[in-house]
Amino acid sequence: MTIRLGDEAPNFTAETTEGTVNFHEYLGDGWGLLFSHPKDFTPVCTTELGAFAARKGEFDQRNVKLIGVSVDPLDSHEGWSKDIQETQGTAPNFPLIADPDKKVADLYDMIHPNASDTMTVRTVFVVGPDKKVKLTLTYPASTGRNVDELLRVIDSLQLTAGYQVATPVNWQEGEDVIIVPAVSDEDAKAKFPKGWKTLKPYLRVTPQPNK
Ligand code: BEZ
Repeated sequence: MTIRLGDEAPNFTAETTEGTVNFHEYLGDGWGLLFSHPKDFTPVCTTELGAFAARKGEFDQRNVKLIGVSVDPLDSHEGWSKDIQETQGTAPNFPLIADPDKKVADLYDMIHPNASDTMTVRTVFVVGPDKKVKLTLTYPASTGRNVDELLRVIDSLQLTAGYQVATPVNWQEGEDVIIVPAVSDEDAKAKFPKGWKTLKPYLRVTPQPNK
């Protein structure tokens, strides 16, 4: 099933390294980051899981719950976690779904047959508190993800969920943002009391409103 932005994130119940998890219950009223790994005991995935674990506090600060999936069974995940601790310095400290029957992988269309019939590609789904999909990313197995970019995009998603703004190229938390074109100058006076610069009628730049 193709999952598009704004779709409800399909719910599932799965065995994980932290017990049986119902996805929607696990997210509660917070945000979620669901990400797939091609296979256990693979090098790039090992570095990714170590990095996600080391930086879990930064996801916690943003009220984002991490949950990974790999199409191997639980005992394999447990052995792999020891290797991740040994080589990366931090073992996974969030649930890693055991998906040997590919239930979650199929539900989220994580297997791309042009890449592999058996392994998932590296997908990322950011889910909002309304359980709607806010972001999807797909990387090939050969390219590891970037934790800084995931945090950056979550900052943008959380900001733009609360204010009628958009974030420009390479935006980082604390930098100026763009007032969306749907807001008239008249309405902008009330919504953006710090004022704005009009570079073009469609390009109005204002300080980040929640700072
Ligand atoms: C990796 O995680 O290192 C990997 C997995 C599958 C294919 C290539 C690399």
